[in-house]
Amino acid sequence: MEDFLSRLRELEESGSAAIRAASAPDELEQVRVQILGRKARLTQLLRGVRELPQAQRPQAGAEANRVKDSLIALFDQRAAELTQGPEERAPQVDLTLPGRGRWRGARHPCTLVTDEICDIFKELGFVRARGPEAESTWYNFTALNTPLDHPAADEQDTFYLADDIVLRTHTSPVQARVMQEWQPPVRIVVPGLVYRRDPYDASHAPAFEQIEGLAVDEGISFVDFKASISYFVHRFFGEDTATRFRPSFFPFTEPSAEVDVSCLLCHGEGCSACKGTGWLEIMGAGMVDPAVFDNVGYDSERYTGFAFGMGVGRIAMLRYRIPDIRLLYESDVRFLQQFERA
Ligand code: DAH
Repeated sequence: MEDFLSRLRELEESGSAAIRAASAPDELEQVRVQILGRKARLTQLLRGVRELPQAQRPQAGAEANRVKDSLIALFDQRAAELTQGPEERAPQVDLTLPGRGRWRGARHPCTLVTDEICDIFKELGFVRARGPEAESTWYNFTALNTPLDHPAADEQDTFYLADDIVLRTHTSPVQARVMQEWQPPVRIVVPGLVYRRDPYDASHAPAFEQIEGLAVDEGISFVDFKASISYFVHRFFGEDTATRFRPSFFPFTEPSAEVDVSCLLCHGEGCSACKGTGWLEIMGAGMVDPAVFDNVGYDSERYTGFAFGMGVGRIAMLRYRIPDIRLLYESDVRFLQQFERA
């Protein structure tokens, strides 16, 4: 028995070494025939189990089978190694090198701010609407209670494409378009580009983005208006930001207000950003003038509502502390990369 086991061990060692030493598939095949083939040494040893005394056979058989299985496994492994190409055998790339970053693009700060504002109003039930940039003077001015000879129209003297077609000066005309199409309740936010004959300097651009808002239903009050705007200010600028409604005038709202927020930089102390006032203006707004409802065919005795309009660029500048509006229009990807949310 001892003799049997030691021969088995010797065969396991020499067989393993021979398998590992084989350097080509046909060489390995020869080794296989020698060790595992029908006339091979292991096969003969296995047959020899029968000649051992009865009591020793189970242990001897088990040991012989273990050696056989281990040699077969080693053989299979070596066969796989020999049929693989050299590049598969050893990794040729250094997996510890840092990856090469790929430019995925980035959204413009105005897009980020637009999405964020629209998402906040979405929580209040507002949906996005859009309208054309080439707009008729009726929608841009007349429907909004602004006669063409009114001084408020002069202020927005702008780019005409034809006698009665203008590059829209604000997103407010979409109010009228939506109201003509849909019955109340209406709650919309309208992002989009607008055009004015403005100078191009640190705080003005002749084309810029706005977001318009409109809510119309039965029983909407000034309280709903103030609460909705204040909610937005808190959500967008932070809980500790104060909101101020200053009386103002717009032809399409009555009463009208300009909405200020406490200066984000000095928190109301007064600094250069807020020109010492402690406040920053963020939007025009008000209760929809009944004349606008009449112009679009809404019953102005039955419905009330509020509207607002804000410049997205201004708000992006406040949010990201961008000092010059022109950076929004002249910059390249190095500028854009800085603002993308994670
Ligand atoms: N359309 C105005 C502008 O561009 C902004 C505005 C003011 C929009 C009051 C409104 C509003 O909806 O109610 O200057």
